[in-house]
Amino acid sequence: MAESKAPVITVDGPGGSGKGTITQMLARRLGWHLLDSGALYRLTALAAERQGVSLEDEPSLVNVAASLDVAFEPTPPGEPAKVLMAGVDVTADIRTETCGDNASKVAVMQPVRDALLQRQRDFQKPPGLVADGRDMGTVVFPDAPVKIFLTASAEERAQRRYSQLKDAGVDVNIDALLEEIRVRDERDMNRAAAPLKPADDAQVIDSTGLSIEEVLVRVMAAAGQA
Ligand code: C5P
Repeated sequence: MAESKAPVITVDGPGGSGKGTITQMLARRLGWHLLDSGALYRLTALAAERQGVSLEDEPSLVNVAASLDVAFEPTPPGEPAKVLMAGVDVTADIRTETCGDNASKVAVMQPVRDALLQRQRDFQKPPGLVADGRDMGTVVFPDAPVKIFLTASAEERAQRRYSQLKDAGVDVNIDALLEEIRVRDERDMNRAAAPLKPADDAQVIDSTGLSIEEVLVRVMAAAGQA
């Protein structure tokens, strides 16, 4: 990272590892910016669907990714950031299981990833950035001084997602959720383009069996901010 650039803490890991909540709390605590890179892949999938672009049409998906009109708006503590696409609130639309699954399909395509790269790097601004994703430490911010890889067992991640959805009044089957998580992990870890894996210099934290507060303590310590 160039001297003049703002510091970055990267937090990578699979879905349901607690990354989203932890990065939000960390960014708020430090007063730093937050990049939710997964939202960009979800938005690409959603925009493609709304524009009638097939998830197999790579050249058109690249155009969709390159021309995304996105704004992230801050919300009160504990609430996910409001996400606007072309001025329309799509916060809930991008959080569905289908959108997550479609996001992981478009994320396999290197040209789509390339189209989103600079947009992600532009989030690096003073006083600092907390970057949440799969390849923040390996590809997008390889020079970040602090890299964390947050993980948890697939069973625990399915249980967390199940509770979240149940609280939101969505009727789901835990076995189906576990299967979806396994399929998505498999796709994210085994793709050729920026596969999900810890950077060589990442600190790995396993959040299985830990509360969010306990994870935050460990993450803050790893980030040298305890
Ligand atoms: O983190 P989230 O569940 O929102 O990400 C949705 C999908 O986007 C992931 O399953 C992954 O395939 C993709 N993604 C990615 N690289 C990132 C962030 C997300 O490939 N940096």
